[in-house]
Amino acid sequence: THQWRGLIEEYRDRLPVSEATPVVTLLEGGTPLVPAQLLSERTGCDVYLKVEGANPTGSFKDRGMTLAISKAKEAGAQAVICASTGNTSASAAAYAVRAGLVCAVLVPQGKIALGKMGQALVHGSRILQVDGNFDDCLTLARELSENYPVALVNSVNPVRIEGQKTAAFEIVDMLGDAPDIHVLPVGNAGNITAYWKGYQEYAKDGLATRTPRMWGFQASGSAPIVDGAPVLKPQTIATAIRIGNPASWGYAEAARDESGGLIDKVTDRQILSAYRLLAAREGVFVEPASAASVAGLLARAEAGLVDPGQRIVCTVTGNGLKDPDWAVAGAPQPQVVPVSAEAAAQRLGLLD
Ligand code: F0G
Repeated sequence: THQWRGLIEEYRDRLPVSEATPVVTLLEGGTPLVPAQLLSERTGCDVYLKVEGANPTGSFKDRGMTLAISKAKEAGAQAVICASTGNTSASAAAYAVRAGLVCAVLVPQGKIALGKMGQALVHGSRILQVDGNFDDCLTLARELSENYPVALVNSVNPVRIEGQKTAAFEIVDMLGDAPDIHVLPVGNAGNITAYWKGYQEYAKDGLATRTPRMWGFQASGSAPIVDGAPVLKPQTIATAIRIGNPASWGYAEAARDESGGLIDKVTDRQILSAYRLLAAREGVFVEPASAASVAGLLARAEAGLVDPGQRIVCTVTGNGLKDPDWAVAGAPQPQVVPVSAEAAAQRLGLLD
């Protein structure tokens, strides 16, 4: 029997590692590519979900972090630091434990989901809530890594992008070629950069005959790339992508332009509607930010802007359990019944 060995071993020849690199892994990657029945129906296309919430800490960040922590360890670092809207910190905290490194985390005060905070805490990271937004946290993390003995593991670290590009490899390996369109949520813009790099590498080496058009979606209150200027006070319920000045802005524009794609924005209402649809109709529970990809695809399909018959992959970036408040909010509280089959059957509507 063959167990998935984690993405560094699975794609070793395409990653910046050598025999000297200590591989720090939780066997991340190898995530499901799930055919999406309702989305396929609504678009007239073959739509797949790349379910990144199935990674060990519940988001795609594990792909970049296995490499970033391995390389930090190889370089002799004792401590790592990151700014985060929650998922990067959860991942860094877990991989730092595996490597025996100290992990420092800077998050925007009051603006990260409870599950993610719990992860950073339970893995023993040193966490600070900064009186500012994610962009302020990243500025601070950069400054600290320049002046103190601590390695930066945000996606401005190029090995993060190298790890994350493997998701594109997995998709081509699974489908036999690149899709026509790849759809992603965009926050700090590292992931769209990484997928584009992965698709281009495979095409260049003849492992795919083409590259997809890259479609990225920002939340409308945090859409600097779409609006063409940094957003000083980014707003959205999708806290993972509540970012006003993405570090990989230029790379995201290059991915858009070189692929013949687009970057657009979706409202919080559209995000929540896609979030509920994914859970209720596809059986896939994602966190709100992840639903931005699907919300964008549906909005374009409804506007008649998606030609039928295409193969489309939507990355859903994080697990719904990270931020369950939105699943519970607005839903009726389950009724209380006595220990009685008859009463339960009646309340469940099994008697009619
Ligand atoms: N979806 C989720 C669930 C995320 O956590 C993030 C980013 C994104 C999408 C956007 O990806 O930044 O590469 O464009 N989260 C970072 C963090 C910022 O700190 O966890 P991106």
